[in-house]
Amino acid sequence: MKVLVIGSGAREHAIVRALSLDPALDAVVAAPGNPGIEAVALCEPLPGGVTDVDGILEVARRHEVGLVVVGPEAPLVDGVADAVRAAGIPCFGPSAAAARLEGSKAYAKEVMSAADVPTAMAHVCTSEAELADALDALGAPHVVKDDGLAAGKGVVVTDDRAEALAHGLACLAKDDGRVVVEEFLDGPEVSLFCLCDGETVVPLTPAQDFKRIGDGDTGPNTGGMGAYSPLDWAPDGLVDDVVARISQPVVDEMARRGAPFVGVLYVGLALTRRGPRVIEFNVRFGDPETQVVLDRLRTPLAQVLLAAAEGRLAQAEPLRWSDEHAVTVVVAADGYPGTPRTGDPLDGLDAVPGDPDAYVLHAGTARDADGVLVSAGGRVLSVVARGADLAQARERVYAAVDAVRLDGAQHRLDIAEKAQRGEVTVPA
Ligand code: AMP
Ligand code: GLY
Repeated sequence: MKVLVIGSGAREHAIVRALSLDPALDAVVAAPGNPGIEAVALCEPLPGGVTDVDGILEVARRHEVGLVVVGPEAPLVDGVADAVRAAGIPCFGPSAAAARLEGSKAYAKEVMSAADVPTAMAHVCTSEAELADALDALGAPHVVKDDGLAAGKGVVVTDDRAEALAHGLACLAKDDGRVVVEEFLDGPEVSLFCLCDGETVVPLTPAQDFKRIGDGDTGPNTGGMGAYSPLDWAPDGLVDDVVARISQPVVDEMARRGAPFVGVLYVGLALTRRGPRVIEFNVRFGDPETQVVLDRLRTPLAQVLLAAAEGRLAQAEPLRWSDEHAVTVVVAADGYPGTPRTGDPLDGLDAVPGDPDAYVLHAGTARDADGVLVSAGGRVLSVVARGADLAQARERVYAAVDAVRLDGAQHRLDIAEKAQRGEVTVPA
């Protein structure tokens, strides 16, 4: 079988890497891919970008792929998975109807309420007066979210009411702008990816992401600056509890609504003193958590994704995981998460030891006219390392990050540091 992966980030590089380790696959094709993915898979251009349905179908048919895996949310929200399935090709990714769980935070709240899933109390606002009332009703810290897709940057969490109001007004100013004001959830965050086939839920291993640009969780939110797995501090039974109270009820509710969920349900949680609460759902693998989760997966990836796409997860073998610890650190361009500077040469990648101990996954990279590898986006690379414990994995990942040369680059120095020191605690 051949597998086609849609996307061009480090998440897709991690997916392609995991697929390419599977000797049972004939080939892995990526569209559009990136210069790092090109080293392990055949890359096909997508002139219309990742939402170019006709381009995707053309590549899938030409390579006679047996499975399409859609990485990013935008094509899913746009109905790419519907089109691939309609063409008779198995697709790992939800329909446009099911992708609304990520495409609209207000819709996600409605589904959670119907399925009795624990989440933050929220007010959906469409006017300045409603916004102001909601900020006062819920109080500080204020959590203000753009209702629609915003690449992880639509959320402001602040004690400053003026800043919260300004962000809310900016969201309202968009066409059909809606803003969600939420109760602040206090507790460590966990990302749990659940493979779903419309009925059955198979959880992957949990990971923790670092959303803020700066050390100590300071500065603006980003798409994610680093991640690690496993979470030794997580309460016993966390995964089973989340599946029973959150993922399975949501999958059941989506099936009841005639929008069965096939793909990854990404459950973003806060572990509060009152138990796990949903912060957000995404309908695809998370970036950068996928980099560490798939690093530890020992079961061949293609067979589980195909089982999900074909509604056979209930019969799938239990997943096998490495006991080792994996850490990823994102190297971002100058200016990120604002407007990143691009076109800077990237050097030192040869000095990274390589898979499996420490390796580089590409995100915003490109080759310039002379074939030189240059930065081409906000998050440029995701460096991954594993070790017998977090200390060893962190040492390896930071040694590799230090080898990489990119003018103006930024990265966090404290990825997985608190966990290594045993300082992550769930409020009692
Ligand atoms: P989201 O895009 O909804 O994942 O939000 C981005 C980040 O904002 C999350 O990872 C959290 O760090 C933070 N956040 C979002 N909602 C809340 C909340 N209700 N309480 C506390 N922090 C939140
Ligand atoms: N790591 C956060 C996300 O993928 O949305």
